[in-house]
Amino acid sequence: MKKEIVKLLKKALNEKGIKLKDEEIGKFIETPPSPDMGDFSFPCFFLSEKLKQNPNQIALEIREKIGNPPVMDFEDIQTSGPYINFVLNRKSLAKKVVWEVLNQKQDFGKVNLGHKKKIVVEFSSPNMGKPFGIGNLRSTIIGNSIANICEFEGFNVIKMNYLGDWGTQFGKLILGYKKFGNEKKLHENPVKHLLELYVKISNNKRYENESRKWFKKLEDGDKEAVILWRAFKELSLNELKKIYKLLGITFDEYDAESKHNKGMDKVIAELKEKKLLKKSEGAQIVQLKNYNLGTCLVQKSDGATLYATRDLATAIARYKKYKFVRMIYEVGKEQKLHFKQLFKVLNLMGYGWADNCVHVAHGLYLDKDGKKFATRKGKTIFMADIIDQTTSLIKKEIKDRTPKISKEELEDRALKIAMAAIFYGDLKNNRSNDAVFDIKRFISFDGDTGPYILYSYARASSILKKVTTKKKFEVFELEPKEIELVKKLSQFPEIVLKSYQNLNPSVIANYSYQLAKIFNEFYHACPVIGSKQIEFRLALVESFRQVLRNSLKLLGIKTLEQM
Ligand code: ARG
Repeated sequence: MKKEIVKLLKKALNEKGIKLKDEEIGKFIETPPSPDMGDFSFPCFFLSEKLKQNPNQIALEIREKIGNPPVMDFEDIQTSGPYINFVLNRKSLAKKVVWEVLNQKQDFGKVNLGHKKKIVVEFSSPNMGKPFGIGNLRSTIIGNSIANICEFEGFNVIKMNYLGDWGTQFGKLILGYKKFGNEKKLHENPVKHLLELYVKISNNKRYENESRKWFKKLEDGDKEAVILWRAFKELSLNELKKIYKLLGITFDEYDAESKHNKGMDKVIAELKEKKLLKKSEGAQIVQLKNYNLGTCLVQKSDGATLYATRDLATAIARYKKYKFVRMIYEVGKEQKLHFKQLFKVLNLMGYGWADNCVHVAHGLYLDKDGKKFATRKGKTIFMADIIDQTTSLIKKEIKDRTPKISKEELEDRALKIAMAAIFYGDLKNNRSNDAVFDIKRFISFDGDTGPYILYSYARASSILKKVTTKKKFEVFELEPKEIELVKKLSQFPEIVLKSYQNLNPSVIANYSYQLAKIFNEFYHACPVIGSKQIEFRLALVESFRQVLRNSLKLLGIKTLEQM
C-alpha cells in the first residue's frame, strides 16, 4: 500500500517541481500514532525551505494535486496542519493482503533483487582443536540468517564455513599430545582431551618455543606433525558436525585456513612484486599507517605465515572461483581492524572487488551479570552442554503441559523449542550490540521469546485444524484488531528488505514477535467460530500462520504444529 501512496505523492510533488526518488519519498512516510488519524501520513516540513512556503499551505496544495484517489485503495485523504493523512480502504486492503499471502505462500515477501548473482556468506568459522563455544554461536546463528535473507531476496548464496585449522595452536596441540596425550581419551572425547592438552601447554612458558617449532614443522610438511594434525582435525570436525546437526545448520562449503597454504607463497610474491612489502625487524609487513590502519604483519621472521596472510590468499582464491558480487564475513567485532586491513591490502593490490567485501560484525555474549561469557570463572562452556541443559529444561515444561506425550514427540518438540529459544534470544538483539545469554529467560513461554512465538504459531495451526471451510471469504466489517493484523502482515516484504539492506536479522526477529503478539490479541478479541465472517477470519489466521512461518524460516527457526 505504501507503494500506492508513494506513486500518488510522486506525481503531485512533480507537479510542484520537486523531483524525488521513490525510496526518498518512502522514507518520509510515517505511521500516525493513532489509527483514527489515518494509516499513513506524509509530513511536509522538509519542503518548506525549498518551496519558501509554510508547511500547512504545502500540505493543502499537494492534497489538491493528488485529486480523487481510487476508492478501491483509499477511503479518504485529508490534511491536518502540515500532514497529509491517508486512510486506506481497509476492506480492500484486507482482501488484497490475505489473497496475496495465500497465493504466494512461501514466496510472500520475496523481492528479486539478486537475479541469481553470487554472494558468499562466510560464518561460524570456529577454531578447530578448541571447543565450539558460545562465542562461535553468534556468528553461526546470525550468519545463517543473513544467508537465508540474501537467498530470499534472489541471490545465489554460497554458505561457507572457514575452519581455523592452521596456526600456532596446532603446534601446542602436537607438542601436548606428544608429551601428555592418550589415544583412548582422544577418541572418546576429542574436544575435551585436546582442550586439556592445550591448557597444559599454554600454562607453561617453558613450552612456548618448542610449540612454535612444531607449528613450523607442520608448515614445512613434517610427516609426524601432519599425521597428528590430520587426526585432531578429523576428530574435531566430527564433533562440530554433530553440533551443526542439532542447530539445523548446513554449509555449502567447508573452506579451511590450511587449504590456502599454497596460495600464501604466491600472495607474498605478489605483494613483493607490487612493492607493498616492507621488512621490519626481520618480519615482512604491509605498511598501512597512511590509512590509519597500523601495520599488517604478513610473514614472521622465522618464515611462518599468519592469519592475515591466509585471509589474503583465501579471498583471492574465492573471487577466482565464484566471481561474487559480494562477500560477507560474519565475525565478532573484535576483529574489526583485521578485516579493515585485509580489505585495504586487497585494494592496494589492485583488486577492485575488495570493495564488495564486508565485515558484518557482532557484539559479545554477556552473562546475566553483564560479564563476558566465555571467560566466566575461567571455565569453558561447551555448546553441546548448553543444548543439553536447554532441552531438558524444556522437556520438563512440555511434560507438565502434555503428560501423555510419546518419547519421540517429546524429543522432537523439545529440541525445536530449545533451538527457537536460543536462536531468537540472540537474533532479537541488534547484532552489533552485546547480547545477554540468559537461558532461563530465553526458554520462557511468555514474553519476547522464541517459545512464545512458536506457541502463537501452534495456536493458529490448531484453529485451522478444528475448522475448515470451502466457502470463499467475504469481508463485512473489520474489528480494530483485524485491521492491525492485516496491516502488520502487509509490512512483511518491507521488513525483509530492510533487514537485507542493513544485514540485520533483528529487524525480522522483532517483527515476528510483534506479529505474534498482535495475533494473540486478535485471537482474544475476535472469535473465529460463530463469527459472521468466519471464512475471512480463517483466511486471516492462515495468512498469519504463513507469514510467521516465512519469517521464522529466515531466522533459521523451525515451527511446530503443537506445543
Ligand atoms: N577462526 C576465526 C576465529 O575463531 C574466525 C575466522 C573468521 N573468518 C576469516 N575469514 N578470518 O577467531
